Amino acid sequence: MIRTPRILVADLHSHVGETVSIAGWAQTLRLQRAVQFVIVRDHTGAVQITHRRDGTALEESLEGLSVESAVRVTGRVVANPVVTLGGIELIPDEVTVESHAEAPLPIDANTGPEGRLDWRFLDVRRRPAARLVFAVQTTVEQAMRAFAYSHGCTEMHTPKLMGTPSESGAEVFELGYFGRKAYLAQSPQFYKQAAIAAGVDRIFEVGPVFRAEPSFTARHATEFTGVDVELAWIDGVADVMDFEERMLASVLAEVAAAHGAAIKEHFGVDVVVPTVPFPRITMAEALRIAGPRAPDSPRDDLDPAGERAVAAWIRERTGHEFAFVTEFPASARPFYHLRPAGQPQLTASFDLLWKGLEITTGAQREHRYDVLVAQAAEEGLSTEPMRDYLNNFRYGCPPHGGFGLGLARLLMTLLGLDSIRDATFLFRGPNRLTP
Ligand code: 4AD
Ligand code: MG
Repeated sequence: MIRTPRILVADLHSHVGETVSIAGWAQTLRLQRAVQFVIVRDHTGAVQITHRRDGTALEESLEGLSVESAVRVTGRVVANPVVTLGGIELIPDEVTVESHAEAPLPIDANTGPEGRLDWRFLDVRRRPAARLVFAVQTTVEQAMRAFAYSHGCTEMHTPKLMGTPSESGAEVFELGYFGRKAYLAQSPQFYKQAAIAAGVDRIFEVGPVFRAEPSFTARHATEFTGVDVELAWIDGVADVMDFEERMLASVLAEVAAAHGAAIKEHFGVDVVVPTVPFPRITMAEALRIAGPRAPDSPRDDLDPAGERAVAAWIRERTGHEFAFVTEFPASARPFYHLRPAGQPQLTASFDLLWKGLEITTGAQREHRYDVLVAQAAEEGLSTEPMRDYLNNFRYGCPPHGGFGLGLARLLMTLLGLDSIRDATFLFRGPNRLTP
């Protein structure tokens, strides 16, 4: 067997005249009477294999190929201006079928969104744009980590199995746990705060978040990746917003540098590196701007149409794609959000909207034990199941605050995707637990 080191298709132009091996998938077969043409695609591009029929075993192996079979091809790289694919072709000496693809393929260009999700590996393999999503995600995470590390954060990994439901309990998955019940964490919230009480000054975590919400929208998943930050010794919630806006500006600068051109090509979107500070608007103002809303939407919170209206208003006045909505009413926020002095009806909290979609919720947390217990009681919450959480505040806890950001929400907004399904490798929703 002839086998030279594998060359990526995108690098073939610098190997003209050499004999090399490539590895990829048979994308198109054009087996003509005199010449066999096969387009082979790897994750970097596609190249034409050109074989003049000669009655050999090579001709036979090309003839037996099926679309999407996994192949290795060894051959000579030839510059040929007539070839539309990059002006290069490979004249094969040997073709090895590593894995034969069944025919016909279960999906094609006309397959709908659910069918594509059923065969997600083929969907992603055959669409460079689908794979770009994960390359961008990698840069986003790397840039977030770099920012967090250089700003004093320690990366923590908190449990996803809990003995009592976190926060509200309403959106929590329950599972069997050696004869008793356990719950899947619907936020690292309580554990991030435990890390603050443990003396970790700044916490960064990227991890799975589970929500038992029967939501069938384009922006809800039952499992998603959350990016969480929690900062100790803050002077106010503005410190948390400052941190987040600088983190996102640095992330988008890195994304623009690494993928700006590819994002424009595949998604038609310009990556705008935002200026800081981001515009801020109180919830009271935001509700005025949102105007009259659907009868079933909450009176103390924005519905999706309201979020879009506020974003459009900010964009018109400032040209900015981002908007912090601040001072949410206490009625719309969990009991642990800090309430500003003298304003018990408000919270020191925010949502971050990007192009009209909520990508983050954050707040300063109540760190004073007696106030926290009183706020829990006010909401009719029983403190007993929260005993471990509340203990964090009994032996000296610094003022602190943080935020949770949905990674897929950020990606779908960044790339202009219609659905969170396309921003996730294997989507999980109320009606989808496979593949
Ligand atoms: O707004 P959420 O529910 O806030 C919290 O979990 C707080 N404990 C925040 C904190 O300070 N840690 O969730 C945070 C973010 C949302 O802004 C949104 O981007 C994303 O997580 N998110 C979802 N993403 C996909 N599918 C869902 N069902 C989501 N629910 C929230
Ligand atoms: Mg939220």
